Amino acid sequence: MTDFGFGPRLPGKVAIVTGAGGGIGGFTARLFAAHGAKVVATDIDLAAAEATVAQIKAEGHVAVAVQHDVVSETAWDHVIAVTVEQFGGVDILVNNAGYHVRTHMVSLPDITRADWDQHLAINLTGPFLGTQRAIPEMLKRGKGVIVNVCSVAALVGGSFMHYSAAKAGLRSFTRNTAVAYGAQGIRANAVFPGLIETGLTRAPLADPATRALLAASNVIPHFGEPKDIAFGILYLASDESSFATGSDLILDGGVTAK
Ligand SMILES: NC(=O)c1ccc[n+]([C@@H]2O[C@H](COP(=O)([O-])OP(=O)(O)OC[C@H]3O[C@@H](n4cnc5c(N)ncnc54)[C@H](O)[C@@H]3O)[C@@H](O)[C@H]2O)c1
Repeated sequence: MTDFGFGPRLPGKVAIVTGAGGGIGGFTARLFAAHGAKVVATDIDLAAAEATVAQIKAEGHVAVAVQHDVVSETAWDHVIAVTVEQFGGVDILVNNAGYHVRTHMVSLPDITRADWDQHLAINLTGPFLGTQRAIPEMLKRGKGVIVNVCSVAALVGGSFMHYSAAKAGLRSFTRNTAVAYGAQGIRANAVFPGLIETGLTRAPLADPATRALLAASNVIPHFGEPKDIAFGILYLASDESSFATGSDLILDGGVTAK
């Protein structure tokens, strides 16, 4: 019978979602679990990951929380080991954990070497370490899906140079992963959120002038919500996107269309 996409989209899949204590990662973890996935919700903030897992369980679904600094190789080894031990393998990796300084604009002279290194470590090295460790598990299954959460900052200049450069690197890394592993059944795609109200953007959006300016810069003149990105991630993680790899899914209220 033809499957028109009704019903759960990730039945029986095992998914790791990093940064699952935050806005986009939290909604993605809940959405995946509601669509039948067993979710490993990781975050450097264990209490935040546990709060997401408590919500998933209250919604009647399956998840575990793991404390996880995406910059740490041993933490990644632990996450993969827990996933395999609890759920038998890895089908989906969402590299969602991310970081930028909590101000809107940072000019070049003000970026310290430590700031630069930290932005590259969390936003680019973290996904590299995770991809490198998840792929051997995916190869055992003969397939797998990676979704990397980039940013419109990867596509245009004008705000945080270090964050922007790290996310642009992640876009390239996504394409390289797709090319290297496509023949072995592994797909890798990237989503590019525009401005979404989460913990990451709370500080700049607290300033009314910045808030009005940023909302007006979208074609759809308001900010997005975590669900606006999570449904895109669900699509890329599901079999409905089986012909998509190395692609960019831009979900930005039209800001880069101008
Ligand atoms: N909110 C936006 O406007 C926006 C726009 C474009 C891209 N993004 C990207 O979306 C992703 C999710 O961000 P969000 O908006 O939900 O922010 P958020 O702050 O709500 O969530 C980010 C989560 O990542 C976790 N985290 C930070 N450093 C970590 C580390 N070293 N190891 C593991 N976890 C770590 C945080 O504890 C937090 O729970 C990020 O990659 C971000 O760059 C967000």
